[in-house]
Amino acid sequence: MAGSGTRVLIVGATSAIASEVARLYAAQGCSLYLLARDPDRLASLVGELEQLGADLRGHASGDLDELQHNAGRIAAAIEALGTIDVALIAHGYLGDQRRSEASLDEALKILATNLASPISLLIPLANQLEAQGAGHLAAITSVAGERGRPRNFTYGAAKGGLTRYLEGQRSRLRPRGVFVHNIKLGPVDTPMTASHRKNALFADRRAVARTIVRVLERRRHAIYVPWFWWLIMLVVRLVPEPLFQRLRSLSGR
Ligand SMILES: NC(=O)c1ccc[n+]([C@@H]2O[C@H](COP(=O)([O-])OP(=O)(O)OC[C@H]3O[C@@H](n4cnc5c(N)ncnc54)[C@H](OP(=O)(O)O)[C@@H]3O)[C@@H](O)[C@H]2O)c1
Repeated sequence: MAGSGTRVLIVGATSAIASEVARLYAAQGCSLYLLARDPDRLASLVGELEQLGADLRGHASGDLDELQHNAGRIAAAIEALGTIDVALIAHGYLGDQRRSEASLDEALKILATNLASPISLLIPLANQLEAQGAGHLAAITSVAGERGRPRNFTYGAAKGGLTRYLEGQRSRLRPRGVFVHNIKLGPVDTPMTASHRKNALFADRRAVARTIVRVLERRRHAIYVPWFWWLIMLVVRLVPEPLFQRLRSLSGR
């Protein structure tokens, strides 16, 4: 269990899942720095955590798609925390799949928020943790990144690209004492999926947050949350393309 003195940076802290993660770390006595886009939502989360007696070392708001500011944002977090034991990148944008097939602007926005923005944050974070010779660096990706499907392939391309990027950083940083984690989520009941029809595969955000915190204490590099997505995605990945095209439950909208 992470405890008092563990220094945690949460990026995209106002996401439903990341807020739960922040509450868990706060309850464990960790020192926190929060980055998020919406200043009002961030102020409300900060207020709530302060009431819980959290050790908040700082927070900042801004659009993380403004890539040129991200190195400075990470530098400010490092200055406030001193060192970073755990960094979690949690922001994301599902976008409108059909719109992204007609509008380059929508496609680029999905790629910016889910791929370029995390990379712009991971560059300074990876260098900081490498210099420290320790720490856990994590980003949330998605089972959508495992195989292209008409339902969400623009988002899936971005999360799949981030998965490849994390793999490379992991091999670079592991010999330097740094653990790089990829948290591959199945569907979770959050504002991101508010308009989706819910079924038994939807996970609870609190349970997901608890698993994320557990994963970041261990040396698991890539983890499906909930765990059963490991099995589902194994099958989905192994289905040969000609068969995949015939199975409309997989290749249909
Ligand atoms: N929910 C799911 O089913 C699911 C499945 C797989 C993976 N994921 C991933 O899980 C992570 C957390 O998502 P969630 O379900 O908790 O969704 P959420 O509650 O809708 O949160 C998404 C967060 O991303 C932030 N964000 C979006 N664009 C941003 C930008 N340009 N700059 C800064 N922040 C930005 C939003 O900020 P604002 O508060 O300003 O809008 C919001 O806090 C995301 O990476 C998502 O892709 C979710």
